[in-house]
Amino acid sequence: MADDTHMLDSPPPGAAADWTVPQDWQHYTAEEHATWDTLFARQSKLLPGRASDAYLRGLDVLKLSKPGIPDFEELSERLMKLTGWQVVAVPGLVPDDVFFDHMANRRFVAGNFIRRPDQLDYLQEPDVFHDVFGHVPMLADPVFADYLEAYGRGGQRALGLDALKYLGRLYWYTVEFGLIREGDDLRIYGSGIVSSYAESRFALDDPSPNRIGFDIARVMRTEYRIDDFQQNYFVIPSFDELLRITVETDFAPLYAELKAQHDIPVAAIEPGDTVITRGTQAYALAKAEG
Ligand code: PHE
Ligand code: FE
Repeated sequence: MADDTHMLDSPPPGAAADWTVPQDWQHYTAEEHATWDTLFARQSKLLPGRASDAYLRGLDVLKLSKPGIPDFEELSERLMKLTGWQVVAVPGLVPDDVFFDHMANRRFVAGNFIRRPDQLDYLQEPDVFHDVFGHVPMLADPVFADYLEAYGRGGQRALGLDALKYLGRLYWYTVEFGLIREGDDLRIYGSGIVSSYAESRFALDDPSPNRIGFDIARVMRTEYRIDDFQQNYFVIPSFDELLRITVETDFAPLYAELKAQHDIPVAAIEPGDTVITRGTQAYALAKAEG
């Protein structure tokens, strides 16, 4: 999920009514497959000991190490057997209602283009590496698979309650940038982190960011940045707990409460926070000074 400033409001030519397009796997060039392989090699070397066990298991059981950009049909077949999810291609960002409808029906929408070789470290729009390497392994985990389906239904509901701002933050701080406690360690599971060479180290090792225990209302009040490393990460105790708390909480009254409160700026620590690491914010401060 990202900002929707350059979003179309009806499917572009070649897309179906539900905005899906053929992945067109045969049309990837050798250079594009090589970009995937480069990104895959450097990320998969970094992630053991850093990514959550569920993520690493997903990478393995889905056979994502097979060379080249994955064929969504083959990937969907494996995923379908494990958790009933599929991966479908879309031309880029899609409207919120379309995104939620796919998700509520266990279809994960993925971009089919891959970044250029000069964009290995950074790009604004999610490409096939972010979407497939970052997100899809977690969908092989039965609990996380249920969480994302429930999130899709929650999204449909939030649209009617004019509360997407709040629900979107939950996505951001879990699905995209979440941390989890595993034994004595913190591990990454958010797709935006696991698909980033630099942030997969920064999120765990750097003294700059705050690392705060997950609290649903706190997360939904917290602003985030889309242009650089996060200044806050929220740590869940387990995927079971994330699923339980989000499914058992009726968000309608919560949204009403949040609308009466102010938003929390990215770097702030609040009185009720369970602070795991109080960040120095040195990285963000240095950046701000130029
Ligand atoms: N419980 C949420 C609601 O009442 C739905 C939801 C479930 C949202 C799981 C996110 C994740 O709207
Ligand atoms: Fe993403």
